[in-house]
Order: sequence, then C-alpha cells, then structure tokens
Amino acid sequence: MNEPLTQANRRILVIDDNRAIHADFRKILCPVNGNDHGLDTIEAEIFGRSATAAAPAGFLMDSAFQGQEGFGLVQQSLAARQPYAVIFMDLRMPPGWDGIETTARIWEIAPEVQIVICTAYSDYSWEEMIHRLGISDRWVILKKPFDNLEVVQLAHALTEKWRLRQEAQLKLEQMEAMVAARTRELRAANEQLKVEMAERERVEEALRQSQKMESLGLVAGGIDHDLNNLLTIIRGCVDGRLEDERQPAETLAALREIDLATDRAAKLTSQILTFSRKKRMLPQELELNQVIQRFANLLQRLLGENIALRIACPGTPLPVRADPGMLEQVLLNLAMNARDAMPAGGQLTLDAQEMEIPEAYVRDHPQARSGRFARVRVNDTGSGIPPAALPHLFDPFFTTKEPGKGTGLGLSTVFGILQQHHGWIEVESQPGHGATFSFFIPLDHGKPSTEGETRRKVEIPQGTETILLVEDDQVVHRLVRNFLQRQGYRIYAGCNGKEGLALWQEHAREIKLVLTDMVMPGEPSGRELAQAIHAQDPAVKIIYTTGYSPDALKMEEPLEEGVNFISKPYSPDRLARIIRLRLDEKPEKPAESS
Ligand SMILES: Nc1ncnc2c1ncn2[C@@H]1O[C@H](COP(=O)(O)OP(=O)(O)OP(=O)(O)O)[C@@H](O)[C@H]1O
Ligand SMILES: [Mg+2]
Repeated sequence: MNEPLTQANRRILVIDDNRAIHADFRKILCPVNGNDHGLDTIEAEIFGRSATAAAPAGFLMDSAFQGQEGFGLVQQSLAARQPYAVIFMDLRMPPGWDGIETTARIWEIAPEVQIVICTAYSDYSWEEMIHRLGISDRWVILKKPFDNLEVVQLAHALTEKWRLRQEAQLKLEQMEAMVAARTRELRAANEQLKVEMAERERVEEALRQSQKMESLGLVAGGIDHDLNNLLTIIRGCVDGRLEDERQPAETLAALREIDLATDRAAKLTSQILTFSRKKRMLPQELELNQVIQRFANLLQRLLGENIALRIACPGTPLPVRADPGMLEQVLLNLAMNARDAMPAGGQLTLDAQEMEIPEAYVRDHPQARSGRFARVRVNDTGSGIPPAALPHLFDPFFTTKEPGKGTGLGLSTVFGILQQHHGWIEVESQPGHGATFSFFIPLDHGKPSTEGETRRKVEIPQGTETILLVEDDQVVHRLVRNFLQRQGYRIYAGCNGKEGLALWQEHAREIKLVLTDMVMPGEPSGRELAQAIHAQDPAVKIIYTTGYSPDALKMEEPLEEGVNFISKPYSPDRLARIIRLRLDEKPEKPAESS
C-alpha cells in the first residue's frame, strides 16, 4: 500500500455568533479521552470499530464569533503554515459579514478550505446560496438543528477530502516538475542532435568533394598518358624547327602558335593531375614569407594599376615543407580570381600568420586538422560570391566566367594542392563585399633552406656516350632517337622490353645509360628490364619515363623527377639535361648495387 504523501489535517474552525454552539461542536469534535463514551459510540457506529478500541484522534478546533474574526484566524493559520481543513460556518452573524460573504472572502486567501454552511430552513433559499457561492465541490450544507453523527461524519469526510486534494496537488506538481525536466532533457538532446546532424552534413560534403576529385582523377589519369605522348611528339616536331630561319615567316608563326598551344595543353593536363592529387609533388623546406614576398613582385605586374596590393607578413619565419611551384600556383590562382572579381579596381591583401588550430575548431571544420599551421589569407574588395555558388566553388569546371575566360579548374587545383600538402582551404564572402580565401599549411620545424635554386641559362648539353632507348610509342621513339643522335650520342633503340633486353645483351659493354618507358606491352616491363640490367651492371644509369603518374605505378625504388625519372610530356632540352646530369654523376659504389 502506498504511504500517504500528505499528513492528515485535523484543524477545524467554527465561525458562529452563538457561543453555545461552540461548546456543542467542541464536545462532538474534541472529546476528552475516556470522558465521553457517547462519542466513542458514535465513532464506533461510523467506523465499525468496537467502542473499546482506541478512538480516532480528535480534531483541533478553533472558534470565531464573527465573519471578520474568522477571516483573521484563517490569515494567521496560513501565515503559521497550519491551514484549516474545514470550517463550520453559521449563515447569519449580525452585525458583521454573513456566512456567504465570509466564505467568499476566505476562499480568496485559502481556496482549498472545505466549508460547511450551517443553516436553519428559513435563512436563505437554495437558489440564492448557489447564486452567491456558485456550484462547487468546496461547500456543503448542514441543516440546523444538526445531528452529532452528521457533524463527525462531515468532519472526517471533509478533512480526508482536504488531504486527498493536497496529495493530488502535490502529485500534479511532482509530475509537472518531471515533465519539465524531461522536456529540458529532450530539448538538450534535440540541440545536440542538430549539432551532430550539421557536423555529419559537413563531413559528408567534404567526402563528396574528395570523391568527385578522385573519380575525375581516375578519368584524367587514364587519358593523361596518351595525351602526354601526343604532346611530346608535337613538342619534339616543333622544337627543332623553331630556330630554322630558312622557313617561310608564316610557317614560323604557325609553329610558334603550335608551341604555345602545346604549352597550354601540357599545363592543363598537369593541372588535372594536380587537382586529382595524381601529380607528383616535389616538396622542399621553404619559408612561406619569402615565397609570398617573391611572388608579390610578380603579382603587382599581373594585377595592373588599378588594384592596390598590400602584403602583411609577420617578422617571424613560417617554415613549411612544400612544393614551391605548387605553392606559387595556389597564390596565383587565388590572386587571379581576386583580380577578375575587381574589374573596376580595388585592393588585394595577402597576409600570413602562424596559428594554433584547436580541437574545437576541427569539430566545426571537418577539413581542418589541429596543430600549428601557417595561415595565408587572400582578401579582395571585389564582387563577392553569392551563397548559392559557395558549395560549388571547388568543383572542377565550376566557373561563372564567359566561355574562353575561365576553365573552372583554378580553385579545384588549389584544393588538390592543399590536400597534398596536408592542409586545407576555407572561403568567406558576402556578395558585394569581397571575398577572403584562407589556406592552411602545417608548419614544419625542420631547417628552412636558403633561397631557391637559381636557374642558369645553359646550352643544350651534348655527349658521345652510348644510350639504350626503349620506347613503345613509335613517334616518341623516333623523335627522341633523332634528337639524341643530333646531340652526339650513340643510340640503340628498342620498341619494347624484349628488344631492349636483346640490345643490352649484345652491347652491354658500351651502354652507359638506359632511358626506358615504364609501361609497355609485353614482357619484360620497363622496370623489369631496368632491374635485369642493373643486376648485371650496377654502374649503368637508368632513367624512367611515363605519362602516368609514377605514384600510380607503385614502384619500390623512389622515383625522383629530374634524377631517375622524367615525366611526359618533356621537352628535348630537359631530357638532354637530365641525361647529361646522370652520366656525369660519380659512379655508384659497388656496395650500393642493390
Ligand atoms: N575572389 C573571388 N571573388 C568572387 N568570385 C570568385 C572568387 N574566386 C573565385 N570565384 C568564383 O569561383 C569560380 C571558380 O573559380 P576557379 O578559379 O575555380 O575557376 P575560374 O576562375 O572561373 O577559371 P580558371 O581559374 O580555371 O581560369 C569563378 O568563376 C568565380 O565565380
Ligand atoms: Mg580562377
């Protein structure tokens, strides 16, 4: 059985101007123990107990003789937190308030008190009383003269009713408090859910972006190889003829156009490889402030006169490990976009800063990573970017520029480069209020190298050594062979691994260097051929070439562009230089022959 939540309240107030009535009530409600057997009998009749059993506890009774006095006692009882449960109220109490008025006043301050209106037949009509007190469960009528049993029964029933009401009220309050607490919990869970959903959306968006890049990269990687072979051929054909003054001027002009177009096409394929992260990166230790300062000199010229350039770099160095060419491309692409967004002029601000990225930041920016980073901001005062365009900005081929003006590869290239550098890029913009692109690159606390290598203009190097050329693409094969022969080399040329191996076996003693394509039909592959040759003579120099990304070929030995690797398309000059460099290297020590 449940314990009652509230204590029984046995406090009763009798308000009656007839003093004798009070004595009667007291006798009925507050019998003196053992003194009044008549009352015991009454109780026994009501509660079915035997008269000798312990009588139920008596009531606590107070008396008032006028309405106002009764009201005063109710006020006091409330202040003392000892409210009355029941009031027996006479109807007529001249000269003061009558019972109806007193009831109305008391309910204003103690609405839960139960009232028993004690009345003789003639006092008021039913209708009048109902009219004045309203129909409610808070009052009953006790007709005078009353029966003792009725009084006790009413006192018991109404004090219990008062208790139950209190209990119901308490339960209701507890319930309301529980509902409020649960609502608060649900609200908090809902907020948390919203945060998590937003975070999930951001992560999914980042994933979609990189998948898009990845699939485009696969397509690009597929056509790149063929395209690069074709470009190598075009370049080879043009190169030798550009300096030939004997040709008609128109032919020369056309050749120059072809040469420029070849350059642009090669850049485009290289750009596609970059944004799809298939391009080989050649990182070195750099100081970012220096890179920016050097770039600024070039930039001012590119921006023209009506765009002011402001550079804000910190005094402290920002060492990073990065590919300088790629880094310049990031700055260039961002700066060119800024220029295009300010056709009527404006200001371009470049600033760099060291930043600690906290975990909390990463939660809101899924592409970000925590740690120490160099942050570079490129801010312009141009047209800004409409919110609808923001999610597509880094998509390959997304452009708002007229056909022929933009390819839409600038920002996707930037995105790819930063990913390769373990960094990321963010954008903020309000239409009409310019745009700020911020990119982050991890700081590298290795030693920054001194200023980049100075390029010397050199003659195309020549030589007389014997070279084994293995290349399956017929035109590239012919071009390279002819070119190298013109440079003075002696060439044995095979069209596949098998021919290459046969030529090696025949002329092993003469051959000093092997230039081989890596991917060729049939066996052995370029790599297997080179390994076989190296096994026989570790002193022979190998240079690999391919139009594929070398990363995709999963080579065990490290490939280093410009040392043991030259990616297609290459210019004859570059090939000649790398060959000369390799041949002039000191012979490898026998111990390193593996
Ligand atoms: N600073 C900028 N202010 C306003 N819009 C910009 C800014 N940078 C980029 N955009 C918007 O983003 C689009 C994509 O830029 P992105 O550099 O990728 O391509 P593009 O500049 O159109 O062409 P591309 O760079 O290949 O010549 C732009 O066409 C332009 O609408
Ligand atoms: Mg651009």
